[in-house]
Amino acid sequence: MFDYQRLEAVDVHGEAPEREPERQYYFMKKCHEWAEGEKKRMGRPPTVSIQTLGCQMNVKDSEKMTAVLMYIGYEPVEQKEADFVLYNTCTVRENANMKIYGRLGYLKNQKEKNPEMKIALCGCMMQEADEVERVRRDYPFVDIVFGTHNIYKLAELFYRHIQSGRPVIDVWEKEREIVEDLPGHRKYAFKTGVNIMYGCNNFCSYCIVPYVRGRERSREPQDILDEIRGLVKDGVVEVMLLGQNVNSYGKTLENRQTFAQLLREVNQIEGLRRIRFMTSHPKDLSPELIDAMGECEKVCRHLHLPLQSGSSRILKMMNRHYTKEEYLALVERLRAGIPDISLTTDIIVGFPGETEEDFAETLDVVRKVRYDSAYTFIYSKRSGTPAASMEGQVPPEIVKERFERLLKEIQAVSSEINGSRLGQVADVLFEEVNSQDDSLITGRLSNNAIVHCPGTADWIGRILPVKLTESRGFYYMGEIVSGSP
Ligand code: 5AD
Ligand code: SF4
Repeated sequence: MFDYQRLEAVDVHGEAPEREPERQYYFMKKCHEWAEGEKKRMGRPPTVSIQTLGCQMNVKDSEKMTAVLMYIGYEPVEQKEADFVLYNTCTVRENANMKIYGRLGYLKNQKEKNPEMKIALCGCMMQEADEVERVRRDYPFVDIVFGTHNIYKLAELFYRHIQSGRPVIDVWEKEREIVEDLPGHRKYAFKTGVNIMYGCNNFCSYCIVPYVRGRERSREPQDILDEIRGLVKDGVVEVMLLGQNVNSYGKTLENRQTFAQLLREVNQIEGLRRIRFMTSHPKDLSPELIDAMGECEKVCRHLHLPLQSGSSRILKMMNRHYTKEEYLALVERLRAGIPDISLTTDIIVGFPGETEEDFAETLDVVRKVRYDSAYTFIYSKRSGTPAASMEGQVPPEIVKERFERLLKEIQAVSSEINGSRLGQVADVLFEEVNSQDDSLITGRLSNNAIVHCPGTADWIGRILPVKLTESRGFYYMGEIVSGSP
């Protein structure tokens, strides 16, 4: 766990240390002094609202930033208005960007009413020079802008802003060192994500991630294992190992090692109950990993295996490095090695040049694989990526029609699969009181499916056997097996 004594030991009377993370400790303490003054002025602690868009990586980054801000003296709040509003942005698809500009329009009015309010933007969208320029030009009331590579510098940038009273914009074009040993905070006491690598080297032709998250870098296995051991001591029972392409973990390490090896080592950590990971690229999913998944009892029976398209021709244009047949063969090997595995996927509809025949191949894979569920996306043109300048952009009405057909196909299989598990008893890790009905507790099965169950809040964080009594589309209703809590 994070050692706050190291932070307290930093002297704030002199110059800021050059070394990280001590430099950030210094600025955290400086900001803390400032926040104490704010607290006196307002007669309450200042509040912060961190809004996170996008993937699990961003969720993890937001957890880290929450911890820094809590140390400074901010109280995190759920509502979208607060003394400090921080947007951790995503730019994978155009509509994520539009959402941010929509919110900024609204926040402008809020800030006119409350000039002390602070607004910051960070994350993937801020790694795009055009977007930063637009914020600078059209949204001058934004106080702090930073990117994905210097997220650990939040306290330093914040301090620069409060000192100068001027906007601070600091975005690094390229990744630099990985800075760890900053405080952590978890949304859930019993589960969290753990970064095992950063960046992506795959350059799928539609995807902006390699441009905004930088090159692939793996963390040292010992650092990962130590972090997880610390988390387990602190009450965590489930970890999600995070990386853009976890199957290529270890390739950049001096002592090369594989993801399968890492998984086996994590599996041995006493007290840990469940291991998940995200995201797998089919091209790097080795037989060694299938064996490890099958043999490690803590690894959840779920694999998210993005397909993107079922057409080998489109897959080639996407630069995915596998064919339809290779993907299907991989699924067969997975089902043979881990018979009870649930598969989920990502699919893009309307990639440039996609014909009705190509789309039919996607439907064919969906029917053959039988995914438990799938995230479906309409292709979104991201400038700077190779696909943005490809010919044959598909007209929106055709994309929409295909998208709806795909959804129907996925939903039909999903409800069949869910229906087939009714009556079974399975372990559920309970996560939270249901937001709509507080007599229900919501949790997840090993395969990640959601289960609502009559129960009490003291089950949160526990794994208990539940009988699945009803299937409602994407979730189950269940009953705790009597006598178990
Ligand atoms: N358009 C639509 N979907 C995209 N994704 C990534 N880039 C794009 C894009 N330009 C999807 C992929 C990926 C998921 C996280 O987002 O399916 O797996
Ligand atoms: Fe994007 Fe492909 Fe990397 Fe995933 S593997 S982040 S889709 S480039």
